[in-house]
Amino acid sequence: MFTPDFSPSAEQNKQPILTRLLQLLPAQGTALEIASGTGQHAASFASHLPGWTWQPTDTHSNAFASINHYAQQAGASNVLAPQQLDVCAERWLAQAPGTDAPPNFDLIFCANMLHIAPWTACTGLMRGSARHLAPGGVLVTYGPYLEQEVPTAPSNLGFDASLRAHNPAWGVRWREDVQAQAQLAGLCLAQRHTMPANNLLLVWAQPAAAHKLAL
Ligand SMILES: C[S@@+](CC[C@H](N)C(=O)[O-])C[C@H]1O[C@@H](n2cnc3c(N)ncnc32)[C@H](O)[C@@H]1O
Repeated sequence: MFTPDFSPSAEQNKQPILTRLLQLLPAQGTALEIASGTGQHAASFASHLPGWTWQPTDTHSNAFASINHYAQQAGASNVLAPQQLDVCAERWLAQAPGTDAPPNFDLIFCANMLHIAPWTACTGLMRGSARHLAPGGVLVTYGPYLEQEVPTAPSNLGFDASLRAHNPAWGVRWREDVQAQAQLAGLCLAQRHTMPANNLLLVWAQPAAAHKLAL
C-alpha cells in the first residue's frame, strides 16, 4: 500500500502561510512551486485558491507520488502534474510549443529549501524567478533566516548547527545575503512577515511591483 511522505512542519505551517497568501494574492493566477517536497503545501494552498493553477515541482521525482496523493485527497484539480525542476538549472521547465518565451507565473513559491541546499540554490532561485515571474508577479520564500539586526532564536542557531553538521554546504541563510542575490537578479524585497516558530515569509518582486507592495 502507498504511504505518502509526511512533514510535521508542513502540517503546522500550512495554515499561517495560507493566511498570508490569501492576503497577498489576487483571486486568479498561475503559481510555480519550487521544492514541493511532500506536496502538503500544494494541496492545501491550491484547494483554498480555486482561481489559481498550481504547478508543483521538485528536483527529486520520487516526491511526485506523494504530491499527487495529497492533491487528489484534497480534491485540488487545479494542481498540475508535478515536474522535475532543479533551481540551479539554466533552464526551468519546457517552453510552450511555438514560443521562445519561458513560461511565466504570477507567484513563485519556495518554502524551506534555501537552508537544505548549497548556496548556489539561492542564486539559482533568484535568477530563475527573475526569468519566470510575470509582470507584477511575486516570489514568496518561507523558512528560517538569520538577520543582522534581529537576535537569532536559539532554536534557529541549533537548527543551523545541525544542518551544517549534516552537510557543510547547508545552513540557515542570512536574509541580507539572500537579498543581495535577489538584487543581482533584479528583484527587490517587498515585504517581510514574521511567522510562527521563528520563520519569515518574504515577498520578492520586480522593482516596480515591489514599490506597490511595500507595507
Ligand atoms: C525541507 S524540504 C521542503 C519541502 C516543502 N517545500 C516544505 O516546506 O515542506 C526541501 C526540499 O528542497 C528540495 N530541493 C533541494 N535542492 C533543490 C534544488 N536544487 N532545486 C529544487 N528543489 C530542491 C528537496 O528535494 C526537498 O523537497
